[in-house]
Amino acid sequence: MAKETLSVTDNRTGKQYEIPIEDGTVRAMDFRQIRVEDDDFGLMTYDPAFTNTASCRSAITYIDGDKGILEYRGYPIEQLAEHSTYLETAYLLLNDKLPNEKELKEWVHNITYHTMVHENIKRFVDGFNYDSHPMGMLIGTVGALSTYYPDGKDVDDAQARELQTWRLIAKMPTIAAYAYRRTRGLPIIYPDNAMSFPANFCSMLWRHVSEKDYRPDPVLEKAIDVLFILHADHEQNCSANAMRAVGSSRPDPFSATAAACAALYGPLHGGANEEVLHMLNEIGDIKNIPDFIKRVKAGEGRLMGFGHRVYKNYDPRAKIIKKTAYEVFDVVGRNPLLDIALELEKIALEDEYFVSRKLYPNVDFYSGLIYQALGFPLEMFPVLFAIPRTAGWVAQWREMITDPEQKIARPRQIYTGAREQTYVPVGQR
Ligand code: CMC
Repeated sequence: MAKETLSVTDNRTGKQYEIPIEDGTVRAMDFRQIRVEDDDFGLMTYDPAFTNTASCRSAITYIDGDKGILEYRGYPIEQLAEHSTYLETAYLLLNDKLPNEKELKEWVHNITYHTMVHENIKRFVDGFNYDSHPMGMLIGTVGALSTYYPDGKDVDDAQARELQTWRLIAKMPTIAAYAYRRTRGLPIIYPDNAMSFPANFCSMLWRHVSEKDYRPDPVLEKAIDVLFILHADHEQNCSANAMRAVGSSRPDPFSATAAACAALYGPLHGGANEEVLHMLNEIGDIKNIPDFIKRVKAGEGRLMGFGHRVYKNYDPRAKIIKKTAYEVFDVVGRNPLLDIALELEKIALEDEYFVSRKLYPNVDFYSGLIYQALGFPLEMFPVLFAIPRTAGWVAQWREMITDPEQKIARPRQIYTGAREQTYVPVGQR
């Protein structure tokens, strides 16, 4: 049988090395033994943006980017979107199994009864300018939760970790809704424990203060839940990596989640759905699409909502979201930008530039159209991504904290700057 090793010859010295291969991977540290002189640092690997480096072992989310497969703990995303709920899926991500009836009831109860935030939080959400971006408010506020829960620092205590998990998953929609209502100048609506997770979120967003029997349309409630399931985790993406990297210095998970939210905020990650809508608005009409595509191909901007570091096929979440979009449009009316999106997708899927680079619609291409049809302003889009992704971030954080192989994340560098300069006083420079 062939050996599971890699033979390396260092042509600088003629020395040979045998590097073990495990799970299709070589360990970067195994290269450190390769050196010219005994006191050399040893060979490093260089991988900016981690394009070919596994940073952890993980049993949470599986992606086959070539085949367009996404599974949480082995369950296909299509089955979860059809049959599960966001809270059940969150349990699955965090616990490695689907809950039985009793476990699910307890779990839902624990999340539901942690949705309230300290009254002070209302005051500092009020302190933000009325036109503040709600994602900025979310980042600041979730980070501030760490000041309310000092037991969050007990990261080695499994029970404390579980409690912070409930708090984080439960309070994100409340903070998001507070931020939304702040931008609208509306009074706060407190969580309603009699409602499901997505219905309570709708209530905190849209309920009128004097409305007693608010119930969201069940199609919209379900659509939000499906969107939450689809966004719950996506293995080592930029924000999960931020959660793990920050969490590796062992602060409380509220602080690490603020960092993950900040990573999500960027237009190349969770901010992309907002950018898709800006792009569709800018195109404005189907007749302008060919000109827009020409500009993208000339390198003057990107087709937002297309392309993915891992998927080199249609993102399975985009397929489900496209179907959900039609269900939502049946209730609230068709988003007029849909026709531009559909035509854009059709042209891009046939165009050699996109085909040869394997650029397909990703999760953000259609989600923004649904959010807009539901009445959300564009700035809320990344917030709507952050709420469900919290389950994934916390699952990744818990896995990292309990992984004996993990240490503080601390990459190396190749230093390219000057050395051994002599300081010259300012007047003599
Ligand atoms: N439009 C036009 N060209 C593109 C696009 C795009 N959306 N995405 C990639 N390319 C081109 C890129 O110019 C490059 O071409 P060339 O080889 O000629 O230089 C090639 O495709 C490879 O691109 P890359 O930038 O090396 O790929 P990456 O893996 O570093 O980037 C990405 C992945 C998602 C950042 C990128 O595809 C992108 O910017 N997409 C638009 C933003 C977006 O939709 N982001 C959401 C991602 S999914 C949800 C999430 O993670 O939050």
